[in-house]
Amino acid sequence: VRSGLLADRHIIVTSGPTHEPIDPVRYIANRSSGAQGTALAAALRDLGARVSFITGPAEVPPPDGVAVIRVQTARQMRDAVEAALPADAAVMAAAVADWRVRNASARKMKKDGSGKPPLLEMTENPDILAWISQLEAHRPRLVVGFAAETDDVLGHATAKRLRKGCDWIVANDVSEGTGIMGGPENAVTVITPDGAEEWPRMAKEAVARRLAQKMADALA
Ligand code: C5P
Repeated sequence: VRSGLLADRHIIVTSGPTHEPIDPVRYIANRSSGAQGTALAAALRDLGARVSFITGPAEVPPPDGVAVIRVQTARQMRDAVEAALPADAAVMAAAVADWRVRNASARKMKKDGSGKPPLLEMTENPDILAWISQLEAHRPRLVVGFAAETDDVLGHATAKRLRKGCDWIVANDVSEGTGIMGGPENAVTVITPDGAEEWPRMAKEAVARRLAQKMADALA
């Protein structure tokens, strides 16, 4: 039996990068470490939630005490999120690749001696945050997205909240020099229908605890 503010709540958290195959041995990825999503899953667990933690290949290990579902690609992540529904809340902290290779090869690609490199054709991946936010049946009561921006953080993130249809956006500035992407700290602005709250720079674990508390208040 769980106790805590989020006892009996089921919360889906996506985390980490996705890997999009080029061929069986090569892939396209990004620099997400999975640190913020992992800290968030742990903080939600600490408040008593049952957490489904759906993670791409991250650098940091998943927390104990959550259900871990490991995926590689954006499409696998979407399918895993769908399989985990229904949920009271969903937090999409994964850095999902926007594109995958349309003409990925089933065999390892070889140099063919012509001196011509292969052409990779890209196609768009499903947007998991937009999809879950717009579900008719089984939309979680609270859907939280992240927005990693390099300029006009507030403007872009506010527009993103409306475009995706999520309830909250946690926006952060990942410009070069902030040390945020892959680093231990985060400085976020939380955008809700009531406005924007700028939080001071703090450890990703502290951002996670404060966000988990705010989610518990919203779900109470
Ligand atoms: O559009 P952008 O990638 O900046 O949006 C970021 C937010 O959308 C994050 O919450 C991320 O987890 C989510 N996202 C997603 N599926 C995608 C792209 C982004 O869930 N294909």
